[in-house]
Formats: sequence, C-alpha cells, structure tokens
Amino acid sequence: MPREERSSFKSSDKSSEASLRLGVLASGRGSNLQSILEAIAHGELSARVAVVISNKKEAQALERAARYQVPALFVDPSHFRSREEYDAAILQQLKEYGVELVVLAGYMRLVTHTLIEAYRDRIINIHPSLLPAFPGMHAHRQALEYGVRVSGCTLHFVDEEMDHGPIIAQAAVPVFEDDTEEQLSERILAEEHRLLPQVLQLYAEGKLKVEGRKVHIRENTSLRTTR
Ligand code: GRF
Repeated sequence: MPREERSSFKSSDKSSEASLRLGVLASGRGSNLQSILEAIAHGELSARVAVVISNKKEAQALERAARYQVPALFVDPSHFRSREEYDAAILQQLKEYGVELVVLAGYMRLVTHTLIEAYRDRIINIHPSLLPAFPGMHAHRQALEYGVRVSGCTLHFVDEEMDHGPIIAQAAVPVFEDDTEEQLSERILAEEHRLLPQVLQLYAEGKLKVEGRKVHIRENTSLRTTR
C-alpha cells in the first residue's frame, strides 16, 4: 500500500470508543476538519475522527490531524492507474480504521462508484454555494460573476454526480456588490464551520433519513440554517 503515515497515535479518549467513527478526506487547508475536531473536543459532537486521508502530501489538514493525534495518511494518486483503483485503496484504509461516515472536507477529487457504493448515503460533502447553483470549482467566483445577492453553503450526501446528492442542510449569506472572492469565501466559511458539526451530530444521533432526493431530519430542534 503506497502511503505515508504522518502520525499513528490513537486518541486516548476512552469515552469516544463507542461514538461514531469519522473518516475525513481533505486536500488542503483543513479548516472544516478543524471545526469537526474542535466540536468533538468541546463535547458538541459525539464522534471521533478515526482517520484523515489526503491526496496531497502538503495538505495542512494532515498537520491539523496530527496535532489532534489523529492518524493522518497521504495516499499518492500517482501510484495508481485509475481513479477507481485509487478509491479502492482509500476504501481499504477507511475500512481498516473502522470508518462509519466519510466527510469530504475540501476534498478536491471526484470520488468514484467504488467508494460511493461501499458508503452509500454515508458520505457527506460540504460545498460553498447554495446547490444546485454553482457546482464544481470556483463556486465563489461563479456566484460573483453571476451577480447573485445571496449565496451560502450546502451539506449533502454524495452520489455519483458531482455536487448533486440529497441535501441535508444549507446556510445562506448575503453577497455584497464590492465583494471579492476572498471576502465571500470567508463569510461562507464561517457558516460551513458552524453547520458541519451540527449536521454530523444529527447523523451521529441517527436523525437523518434519506428518501430519494430528500433528507428527512427527525426531531430537528437544534439545526439553525441562518444566524
Ligand atoms: C471549503 O470552502 C469547502 O466548502 C470546499 O472546499 C473548502 C475547503 O476548505 N469544498 P478547508 O480545507 O476545509 O479549509
């Protein structure tokens, strides 16, 4: 298995042994991963991050994981002949770490059927627009160029189409006329960090049910989608 392990310490938190085991896939900065780790540390999310995997060796997400003593793996795409083979290797790691729910937190790579089928309705992606508007790359730029007055973020289950699966939650932010991509991104990111741990907690509590394109949230008293 071509991989590089930055840290292999296991969390010593015994109370989390029985809680939901998350696998986080991330390619970059990892601020959403950080929001998950902090929510767990503050007792707001009953889960543990079992493993963080990146397709980028230099991903800051790997450093953040190591800081929290979470196993952090770099799986090098150049060692695989196809995206399916790559995902098979990722799948093997996720299984090895007993991952129950996968979070795509800034994972800049399309996941294939191999992973999606094995984790059907158990992969959550966060996207920085109000889907179905502005899927794909450069969502903030797309929103600014289109001239929308409101944008935001979307948490959804992953299916075979990019940024398409059943929507769990969305949060909206205003778009101002003189916004730069950075300013809009920052405003949306604050909502991502707030919403992601809440959605994961709902999942951990077994309150999310997928029916076709719809996600039903049971006894939802806590999820705030606006400030
Ligand atoms: C976030 O804006 C997320 O919505 C998108 O990629 C960005 C990742 O940021 N999918 P970070 O790596 O979590 O800081």
